[in-house]
Amino acid sequence: VKSLFVKKDLVGRKILVTAGPTREPIDPVRYISNYSSGKMGYALAKAARDRGAEVILISGPTSIDPPIGVMFERVSTAEQMRDKVLQYFDEVDAVIMSAAVADYRPMNYSNVKIKKDDSEMTIRLSKNPDILKELGDKKGRQVLIGFAAETDNIVMNASKKIKEKNLDMIVINDVTQPGAGFEVDTNIVKIITKDGDIKDFPLMNKYDLSHAILDLAANLMVR
Ligand code: CTP
Ligand code: CA
Repeated sequence: VKSLFVKKDLVGRKILVTAGPTREPIDPVRYISNYSSGKMGYALAKAARDRGAEVILISGPTSIDPPIGVMFERVSTAEQMRDKVLQYFDEVDAVIMSAAVADYRPMNYSNVKIKKDDSEMTIRLSKNPDILKELGDKKGRQVLIGFAAETDNIVMNASKKIKEKNLDMIVINDVTQPGAGFEVDTNIVKIITKDGDIKDFPLMNKYDLSHAILDLAANLMVR
């Protein structure tokens, strides 16, 4: 019902949102992943849709139903997410990377289930591609928005990411605060823009927060 009263300022815009974790397989029955639920990204996709944007949602494994009225692509690994994101990048006006992309993947995938023995076991990991950094390197008109979950030196760490990945803004989640972060329906964030401006937001539900993020993004998109 709320969505009926939303301003339609994103009509004619195409927005790519990534959501959820990625899953990096070890063998047919095991993987490495993280606690991302996908709630923030799905809320962003819905909010952008409600404002009239054409939305492409690229999602890692989550337990949430795909929102209606958005183009939905399901992926599993970071490499699959990267391929999908690159496939759409040229045609979009903005990318919001809320996915929690795994930084590493097992170096060797075993086609058969790994059996235990009595010794220790080690899994070697290789670095995954940094999707957002790749986008930053090739960006044209696109507005690029990153997310960061930080526990310490929050502003310094996030400012570094803005520069390194050539972002327009970054949404920082202080995961040490109750009500912020994984699995919950609310978030407490700071948003830093590339000019160095820092905005503090109170505890908000993820749909309302999505609109606040899109307000800033809308201002950055070229007419
Ligand atoms: N990101 C990405 N590809 C990766 C890792 C991260 O596109 N392989 C994106 C995330 O989706 C997020 C932003 O980069 O929007 C910041 O992610 P974060 O994990 O906070 O930063 P990293 O650069 O991975 O640095 P670190 O985990 O060491 O803090
Ligand atoms: Ca990371």
